[in-house]
Amino acid sequence: MIGLPDFPWDRLTPLKELAASHPDGIVDLSVGTPVDPVPAIVRQALADASDSPGYPQTYGSERLRSAAAGWLRRRHGVVLDQANVLPLIGSKELVAWLPTLLGVGPGQRVIFPELAYPTYDVGARLAGAEPYAADGLLALGPERVPLVWVNSPSNPTGRVLPAEHLRKVVSWAREHGAVVASDECYIELGWEEQPVSILHPDVCGGSHEGLLAVHSLSKRSNLAGYRAGFVAGDPALIKRLLEIRKHAGMMMPAPVQAAMAVALDDDEHAEEQRARYAARRAALRPALEAAGWKIEHSTAGLYLWASNGTGCWEQVRALADNGILVAPGDFYGTAGERHIRVAVTAGDERISAAVRRLQ
Ligand SMILES: Cc1ncc(COP(=O)(O)O)c(C=O)c1O
Repeated sequence: MIGLPDFPWDRLTPLKELAASHPDGIVDLSVGTPVDPVPAIVRQALADASDSPGYPQTYGSERLRSAAAGWLRRRHGVVLDQANVLPLIGSKELVAWLPTLLGVGPGQRVIFPELAYPTYDVGARLAGAEPYAADGLLALGPERVPLVWVNSPSNPTGRVLPAEHLRKVVSWAREHGAVVASDECYIELGWEEQPVSILHPDVCGGSHEGLLAVHSLSKRSNLAGYRAGFVAGDPALIKRLLEIRKHAGMMMPAPVQAAMAVALDDDEHAEEQRARYAARRAALRPALEAAGWKIEHSTAGLYLWASNGTGCWEQVRALADNGILVAPGDFYGTAGERHIRVAVTAGDERISAAVRRLQ
């Protein structure tokens, strides 16, 4: 039996019940789940493709891969052939299975940030490898490492890694034979800073060798319920992933492929969604600050990374007493034990309720 950590969200249940007992109901800013509608054009594309009796291709349709490559070029300055795109059934499954798919195993380390989305650790464990949280790679010395994860903008901190930092990671990885997997699922949500893709020429010098960028439609297009993402990058790595995923049946349903292609081609709905998150963030941030929280990083992404100096569970309880549920920082690593993560994903009415309660 593989040793997996307890599912962290289960530990929050008693405080969720406490927050839910507020007379005006809970404001749930814990899980970053989208609450706004799926764009009408995307729903239409899903409906139009609903008569899909045959098996879909694991590789995805050329239409979908071209839409992904087009979006990367148009929005992120990344030039890549559509052949080097592979659809994902949401990006979480790749995060959890990438070490296994790459053949990483016992005695090898999978590196990820000290404050991180917990699934990087889970993926290392599923492969029987050693999860290793480290922000600085130099401390690893000459050891050969199979896989390094980066995540910019970060969950939970909203921190952006500048091109120069990513460039150093890429050159370190190339010297050590490591694959760099860059989780870019919040890349469209830059606020005070603009995130850059690992595949951008300023970062990788124009070669995608050893690099994979992982993207998600969950937040950009409110498609968390559809399970829609993709991975793109090194042609040899994409080919290897495709081979195994074909054998393992990891294929995106055809109607979702059709819907995702339409979502990738359209920027209007993404701008509308960005504006909603910007407004919620602009309301919540000063309210938290006025109530004694200091916000750190958080220049991009969906979260405010905040601390009032006390332990994270004390902060979660204080807010839950007021009917507001947030995530304790220690869900993301011991370095988060004095922070909370506040998601800006509630609807406008609930965000206004949170702002009132913080006063
Ligand atoms: C950093 C990070 N990576 C990946 C995911 C998974 O996203 P999805 O599976 O919806 O594409 C999330 C979800 O919140 C995340 O925060």
